[in-house]
Amino acid sequence: MALHVVDHPLAHSLLTALRDKSTPPPLFRVLSKRLALVICVEATRSLATERVEVETPIRATAGQRLASTFVAVPILRAGLGMLEAITELIPEVLVGYIGLERDHATFEPSLYYSKLPPLQGRTVLLLDPMLATGGSAAAAATALFGAGAESVSLISVVSAPEGVRHLESAHPSVEIYTAALDEGLNDHAYIVPGLGDFGDRLFGT
Ligand code: PRP
Ligand code: URA
Repeated sequence: MALHVVDHPLAHSLLTALRDKSTPPPLFRVLSKRLALVICVEATRSLATERVEVETPIRATAGQRLASTFVAVPILRAGLGMLEAITELIPEVLVGYIGLERDHATFEPSLYYSKLPPLQGRTVLLLDPMLATGGSAAAAATALFGAGAESVSLISVVSAPEGVRHLESAHPSVEIYTAALDEGLNDHAYIVPGLGDFGDRLFGT
């Protein structure tokens, strides 16, 4: 597994605003999408392209286009805050959904929804802004590989070392793209310093 911590001034300033507890949900939504755009540009750096001819108003020239269809899968709810970034960057992306909820006492995820397009041989960008214990991302990756995904990259906003280790031992091939590797987890399995409950801050709950 490779951990990619995105080192970009835009990522740093957007993440700082997301961490700020005074950022209200309407602004939190806008900033989440912007930060997801920056992370996704990094995460798609190695996608294969194929050569095509294009006619400019002046003459024909060589260009490139994405060589294969790939799939974005947000983990409900919080991953929804990152989805529009992908569909705007790559309108032809296929979208699936996985619903997972962490138990407040055991921190174990339970699957309550899954709707996936055909994944056989495809690359999946898994969208989940918080990699805390890693249980949710690992369960989602298990479901994606079980459905035939060829490769999975996780797009996260904040990651904890515990989550990175968990995901690495469960699914060593998964690449993680994140804006920050934080200190660790508190007794409630929240990321420290983190940004709180991403889903609650995104949806105002
Ligand atoms: C949050 C977050 C991740 C998960 C991360 O979801 O969005 O999916 O926790 O924690 P983990 O790494 O310890 O599994 P939550 O279960 O709170 O659901 P929500 O997005 O619907 O609020
Ligand atoms: N889920 C969140 O939304 N935040 C955390 O810090 C951990 C899990």
